Amino acid sequence: MLSGIAAPALDFTTEEKRRILRHGPWPPASLPDPSNRVSGKPAAMALGQALFFDPRLSLSGTVSCATCHPPDRAWTDGLPRSRGHRTVDRNAPSLFNLRFNRWFGWDGAQDTLWAQNLRPLLDSREMGVGPGGAARLVRSDRQLSCGYRRAFGVAPGADDARIFVDLGKALAAFLETQVTGRTPFDDFRDALARNDAAGRARYPAAAVRGLRLFVGRGNCAFCHFGPAFTNGEFADAGVPHFVDPGRVDPGRHGGIRKLRRSPYTLLGRFNDDAERSTAAKTRYVRLLQRNFGEFRVPGLRNVALTAPYMHAGSLETLADVAHHYSTIDEERLHAGGERILRRLDLSAREQADLVAFLETLTEKEPLHESVTKTGNTVCR
Ligand code: HEC
Ligand code: HEC
Repeated sequence: MLSGIAAPALDFTTEEKRRILRHGPWPPASLPDPSNRVSGKPAAMALGQALFFDPRLSLSGTVSCATCHPPDRAWTDGLPRSRGHRTVDRNAPSLFNLRFNRWFGWDGAQDTLWAQNLRPLLDSREMGVGPGGAARLVRSDRQLSCGYRRAFGVAPGADDARIFVDLGKALAAFLETQVTGRTPFDDFRDALARNDAAGRARYPAAAVRGLRLFVGRGNCAFCHFGPAFTNGEFADAGVPHFVDPGRVDPGRHGGIRKLRRSPYTLLGRFNDDAERSTAAKTRYVRLLQRNFGEFRVPGLRNVALTAPYMHAGSLETLADVAHHYSTIDEERLHAGGERILRRLDLSAREQADLVAFLETLTEKEPLHESVTKTGNTVCR
């Protein structure tokens, strides 16, 4: 009865099947962000979308969020390290599935999406308009002040910091809508869940072999865990972290220090949730020596669209990533605790299988491509 169906797909062990099923179902359920009173509000999404494309939020009037995160390129600029007014130290991540993150930025220096959105507005290498400049713009521009009133229910007031943070919250309401669609992997995973052999057979044999490596010998799923393919935490994946000769990126270690100094966290006055229901992670975060050189485990959905890879864009293709994990220098990795990453010594075919699997995590018809600049239409 089962003849003609690719054999490798049929003989997963119970343990393999259990591990594969954990990467779904997709999309997961989601709730509004309690720290952001306009999360999920359409008027805020519209304001956020307009702000995203507005170069007036930069000191030079020439850089917008879309400069480094163009939607028609999967929200990333394709550069190893991004360039605003000047070149920054890190690669611009894509902006998919942000609503499922616990921490933001490669170093997790922000504990909310809205605080993350403020970072480029504060950094003069990126946009640098700052709280005063941003608040003046909103108060003086008819469209933006009207959009603000619709989103927040009041006219922009005199408190610059308040308006500034609210812009981050409107941007967050917009970016939360960017959840990736279904992929060939999801169809396979759901077919596996309902024992649908014909549905399973549509998945390429190379991807099945790559998936097996991913959840098995490669141990990739230890960190790239769950439906979004990230455990949301930080690790050292053996990627060199020199920025320039003699200057290193401290990664998570620096991120925790920035988080503690920031006024824009869940512990501060801008959290809209009086209960502080999501603030425990920030309250109890500890600074450890091993955080040095750790970076956030990126989610892997739509990964085929977001080259180059790693925190400073040091790997150009997914084949380079497979090669990296295959030849990793174990001496360079942190020694402490149980060693999770090992040099895998994969054959050329196994590396190709891993890439074939990673490619099936990408949407066939990405929706983000239709997101465009709304222009001055927030308050038509
Ligand atoms: C100069 C290029 C540049 C500009 C302009 C820029 N970004 Fe980014 N963005 C980056 C880089 C680089 C990172 C990674 C930062 C880090 O980890 O330190 C990033 C990270 C992010 C993240 C975190 C994603 C994640 O997975 O944690 C979000 C959200 C984001 N940017 C949104 C925005 C918004 C909104 C704007 C406009 C207000 C913006 N960015 C402007 C380059 C840019
Ligand atoms: C110990 C945790 C850990 C394990 C195990 C692990 N990764 Fe990663 N992965 C990371 C971290 C952390 C990064 C980001 C590293 C950096 O930028 O310095 C990353 C980055 C990546 C990226 C680049 C994503 C992007 O958007 O830049 C891909 C692809 C990837 N890993 C695939 C894999 C595969 C395939 C395996 C198994 C062979 C694997 N990972 C095993 C933690 C891990």
